[in-house]
Amino acid sequence: MGTLDGKIAIVTGATSGIGARTAELFAAEGAKVVIAGRRKDEGEALAERLRGSFVRTDVAVEADVEALIAHAVERYDRLDILVNSAGDPGPGGGIAEVDLATFERTFAVHLGGVLAGMKHAARVMLRQGSGSIINIASTTGRLAGWSGLGYSAAKAAVIHLTRGAAVELGEKGIRVNSISPGPILTGIFAKGAGMDPAQADRTAARLADAFTAALENYQPIRRAGTPDDVAQAALWLAGDASAFVNGHDLIVDGGISAGRPASVALAERVGLAEAFAQLRN
Ligand SMILES: NC(=O)c1ccc[n+]([C@@H]2O[C@H](COP(=O)([O-])OP(=O)(O)OC[C@H]3O[C@@H](n4cnc5c(N)ncnc54)[C@H](OP(=O)(O)O)[C@@H]3O)[C@@H](O)[C@H]2O)c1
Repeated sequence: MGTLDGKIAIVTGATSGIGARTAELFAAEGAKVVIAGRRKDEGEALAERLRGSFVRTDVAVEADVEALIAHAVERYDRLDILVNSAGDPGPGGGIAEVDLATFERTFAVHLGGVLAGMKHAARVMLRQGSGSIINIASTTGRLAGWSGLGYSAAKAAVIHLTRGAAVELGEKGIRVNSISPGPILTGIFAKGAGMDPAQADRTAARLADAFTAALENYQPIRRAGTPDDVAQAALWLAGDASAFVNGHDLIVDGGISAGRPASVALAERVGLAEAFAQLRN
């Protein structure tokens, strides 16, 4: 018996990375999954493998999102779970160089996409009196300096939008939570650096050692985060085991948000103690 037997789920941003792994896990746990994204070939291939369906969707276009939700309801007559995972890396650059049009596009994808998904899913879930919505936010919505300004601000807004939806929809039996992953091994970083998306997805896992090294001073758990780490959190939030959890932001970051690894802080204190000792001499 699977955790999600008989449930109908939509996962946006499921043509790669966290969304793709979440769709796989949900299907393995018994859910019927509708996957969404812009890349048709990748989407159709995964849908076929999972015996689900794919709807080509740009989450920044509300009509696309509406059609996605309508597809699930036409096909299965209900909707139990929505995971809003679609997202792009967003631009870098400092405050004095911000291009407002690009900033707005980042908000349209990350915040508008989540809002459109919740809006159209809520219409179905309100009729049912049940549902679980999971929005993929980010630790960069909590900690500044880890990503571009627009991405980071949009993710902070996703965390708060989640709370707003949770207090409204919770009264009607619908739970709304977010997940804030830390750095996770997916193609999003290489896509941000301009690599072809298919190649970025294919080669993401090869960056495991580089990730582990780059995070040495920040992440207490000494390995790169994987899409499965996030998918397992999404599975828990999607299923009935989390029935009393609503309006929560579940951090999946190996402890980055909790603080620095103790060994790093200790090494710093030893260094300072040596500096004090030299002052005394
Ligand atoms: N990887 C990390 O370190 C990390 C950390 C924190 C949060 N996140 C968040 O996790 C989510 C998934 O990212 P990922 O790391 O799994 O990267 P990814 O492998 O690049 O996946 C991003 C997904 O979003 C889709 N997408 C992008 N723009 C879209 C749009 N306008 N409309 C519909 N789909 C769109 C992409 O598919 P198409 O190209 O086919 O549209 C792809 O399926 C994102 O929201 C990201 O911000 C990632």
